[in-house]
Amino acid sequence: MPEAVLFRGARVIDPSTGHDAEADVLVAGERVEAVGAGLDPQGAEVLECAGLVLAPGLVDLHTHLREPGAEHKETIATGTRAAAAGGFTAVSSMANTDPVTDHAGIVAEIRDKAAESGLADVFPVGAITKDLAGESMAELGEMVEAGVRMFSDDGNCVPTARTLRNALVYAKAFTAEVVIADHCEDASLVAGGHMHEGVHSYSLGLAGRPAEAEEIIVARDLAIAHATAGRIHICHVSSARSVELIRRAKADGVRVTAEVTPHHLVFTDDDLVGYDTRFKVNPPLRTAEDRDALRAGVADGTIDAIATDHAPHAVEEKESEFDQAPPGTIGLETALAAVLTHLVLPGVVELSRAIEAMSATPARILGATGHGGAIEPGRHANLVVFDPAETWVVEPPFASKARNCAFTGSELMGRVRHTMLRGSLTVADGKVSR
Ligand code: DOR
Ligand code: ZN
Repeated sequence: MPEAVLFRGARVIDPSTGHDAEADVLVAGERVEAVGAGLDPQGAEVLECAGLVLAPGLVDLHTHLREPGAEHKETIATGTRAAAAGGFTAVSSMANTDPVTDHAGIVAEIRDKAAESGLADVFPVGAITKDLAGESMAELGEMVEAGVRMFSDDGNCVPTARTLRNALVYAKAFTAEVVIADHCEDASLVAGGHMHEGVHSYSLGLAGRPAEAEEIIVARDLAIAHATAGRIHICHVSSARSVELIRRAKADGVRVTAEVTPHHLVFTDDDLVGYDTRFKVNPPLRTAEDRDALRAGVADGTIDAIATDHAPHAVEEKESEFDQAPPGTIGLETALAAVLTHLVLPGVVELSRAIEAMSATPARILGATGHGGAIEPGRHANLVVFDPAETWVVEPPFASKARNCAFTGSELMGRVRHTMLRGSLTVADGKVSR
């Protein structure tokens, strides 16, 4: 149940308005009632926030919730629990479920489950092609009708230029707000590969997935978006040259947005020398030069958003041989702290820009109204409060059902204290409500 809460004396950072100053925030029912200095609690529960940051609840553009079909890895209940624990109030759930989210029936099923057991709002992503097979178009029309705004075959790359062109043209015909998101890896170049192709893949004896596999598809997608004036979103950018391609396309007026994951912003292929499957992800972790270019891309806005690609897998799946293990790392519970520790603390990205890339901007890309700010009277109270200075070591158990976390064992700075979804505390004092 929504309660009346007064967050007292936080540093309120609201990238959507540019607000960055100390204030009290009073919440009544589902909404923000007042923002200002020395507010009267009016009987509300008072949460002391001196030294803490209060920001819009985080929004993830790229979460694999695994339900329906792989509930042994994660469920809507456990995945949104992980989201709340990490300060997220909304997540965009990828379509590689089983059955695939390729028609309105599955969209409704996911939304119903989320409303019943979710600790965050779930915005289902629809598949571009039926069954993610890359051939015939999924039921885009009925899914748009059902409110879906993002389509992706993520896990798979849209295999042909013609299919991508059809999707961009088709999507644009419904509403200008629809976005096509692509997992950019050329299938012929990554076939059989398990990590970034380079000195480490040669010395480890593992087949590689070269950077150009991504860059070829990014270039293709940008050319088609330019030609069709369609809206393209590039998922989990991993290479320096991809950042440069996106930068130039933006200067050219192409309607492109892009995301990067915390793991690609922190780790490199150096981290794979112990064959640790926690670092096996698609696209793969690349070189320090790539990582630095991704950081610079976030700083200058070429990369719009930071998205987790939260990809839960069962312990026994990830414990197999490196070449057998499925790709992916969970990320919802560590995203904010990873960004604060590795981008904000060293001064690469301003705190307000980091928050924008994790809240206001993804909310805008997704059309997640009510999320990402503004923190103003009358708006839904979707908020996160975090301690920017608390350090902690990432260790299981997680709120997620999974444990395959690339950050396990890392010391991070910045910890979520409270998360509020429409006036209800989903996390209070660091504890998830259920
Ligand atoms: O590492 C990844 N895992 N990359 C993807 O694109 C898919 C994801 C998954 O579904 O496990
Ligand atoms: Zn992907």
